[in-house]
Amino acid sequence: MSTEIPADIVIHDGVIVNATGRRRGTVVIRDGRVAEILEPGMTAPAAHREIQAEGRLVIPGGVDPHCHIGQELGEFPMLDDYREATTAALWGGTTTVIDFAIPTPGEAPLHAAHARLKLADSARCDAALHGAVVDWDSTTAAQLESMAEMGILTTKMFTTYRDGVMAGPDTIDAVLKTLDRLGGIAYVHAESNHEIEDAVSAAVSAGRAGARHHAETRPEDAELAAVRAVIDVAERTGTAVYFVHQTTPEAVDLVAQARARGVRAYSETCPHYLVLDDSAYATEVAERFVCCPPLRSRATVEGLLARVLAGDVDTIGSDHCCYSTEQKLRHAHDVREMPNGMPGVESRLTVTFDALVVRNGMREEDFVALVSSNPAALNGLRTKGWVGPGADADLVVFDPELSKPITAAGSHMATDYSPYEGREFTGWPVVVVSQGRVVVDQDGFHDPGAVGRPLRAVASLDGTHGLTRVGRSPQLEADHPSRGTL
Ligand code: URP
Ligand code: ZN
Ligand code: ZN
Repeated sequence: MSTEIPADIVIHDGVIVNATGRRRGTVVIRDGRVAEILEPGMTAPAAHREIQAEGRLVIPGGVDPHCHIGQELGEFPMLDDYREATTAALWGGTTTVIDFAIPTPGEAPLHAAHARLKLADSARCDAALHGAVVDWDSTTAAQLESMAEMGILTTKMFTTYRDGVMAGPDTIDAVLKTLDRLGGIAYVHAESNHEIEDAVSAAVSAGRAGARHHAETRPEDAELAAVRAVIDVAERTGTAVYFVHQTTPEAVDLVAQARARGVRAYSETCPHYLVLDDSAYATEVAERFVCCPPLRSRATVEGLLARVLAGDVDTIGSDHCCYSTEQKLRHAHDVREMPNGMPGVESRLTVTFDALVVRNGMREEDFVALVSSNPAALNGLRTKGWVGPGADADLVVFDPELSKPITAAGSHMATDYSPYEGREFTGWPVVVVSQGRVVVDQDGFHDPGAVGRPLRAVASLDGTHGLTRVGRSPQLEADHPSRGTL
């Protein structure tokens, strides 16, 4: 009789897919970590929980680099909290969420970060935080240093939303210089505020301020101008910069060209910019699709998709914002007053897999890079984003052939609508393991309770560690000592 201590979980005979390669095997989990991977035919240890994964993929849990959880931007509180947002994330195969500590007017960035960390206690999975700066003052550098000591090395700024969260050019310059010293990365929402304000004024004067006209109030050129301006600062200061939610091929090209010149510049897009287009604003429910930047024309969507397939985009974030139909409708006649953003933390993996792998033949390894490995690497989460001995036991058994519609009723986000209502998607998580526990399986959700443990980035982000370039040969840009390759 074997005296070996049973493993916690054994996942048998799946196709294990990392950004760096794939192989068939059995994953053994002990004490919240992947203990070993067994070759086909090797005898697995006894386990408290056995999962059969034949015919399925075993991928690292999703890492969502762009979530707004229960934030209040303007008049509208988002409807979820950490418990709800992370429960929905787990249902969708995301086992780490990264939220933003955006200061309220007059609030210090460090205070905002401490307040958000407290909220993360109720999370059902791991959570990390980006800091944010709105106005530079004499205390900001020291606050960014304190945040770096807390393991928060990424700082978000918005180039738009005047009288809200907009950071002016002097603030952006000072933050980038400080982040460079601290080994951090600037996260930027890039839309040129002047161009947006001009376009909004023109639309309002023409009586076209409603949600149906949202796209014309935020032109593509505004995005390009802001990306160009911020790349200039990054190039001058040498700071790593990450552009959130890029929506146009030209904006992605600016980032790729900067990277070719040696700038550490990174590009994120979101599932909705790859799947939806501005025809949504001509529907009866235009308000549901109001997000910034807006959904673009079909031609732009196709161009963006081509850039993702070519490997010029580094990550896919959800830009999750949970509002209800009622909130979206309240000021639907005037986009200046509306809450921006759409729910998406739960649908990110499935919508991305369907759009890229199923419909466009992307390799599953590259899908893993975009939704898990690269977000983990760029945020210094070295034990996440890969499946191998020593990695966190955050894994998804993913059925690449399962097709079903996304509906609000079948989702778990704290809202009453889905931007994808009734559309069929292929590729769904069927078992989700988070922190070494099975949290989703055929019987539903097994609430692990409040297991939030805010994550720290590694001591310094060089902006390249372990990043996998999608669509190219799956080689690591830099040696990553703790990251397994298959
Ligand atoms: O429309 C959006 N994306 N709302 C959330 C805030 C932001 O700009 O990321
Ligand atoms: Zn944004
Ligand atoms: Zn956002």
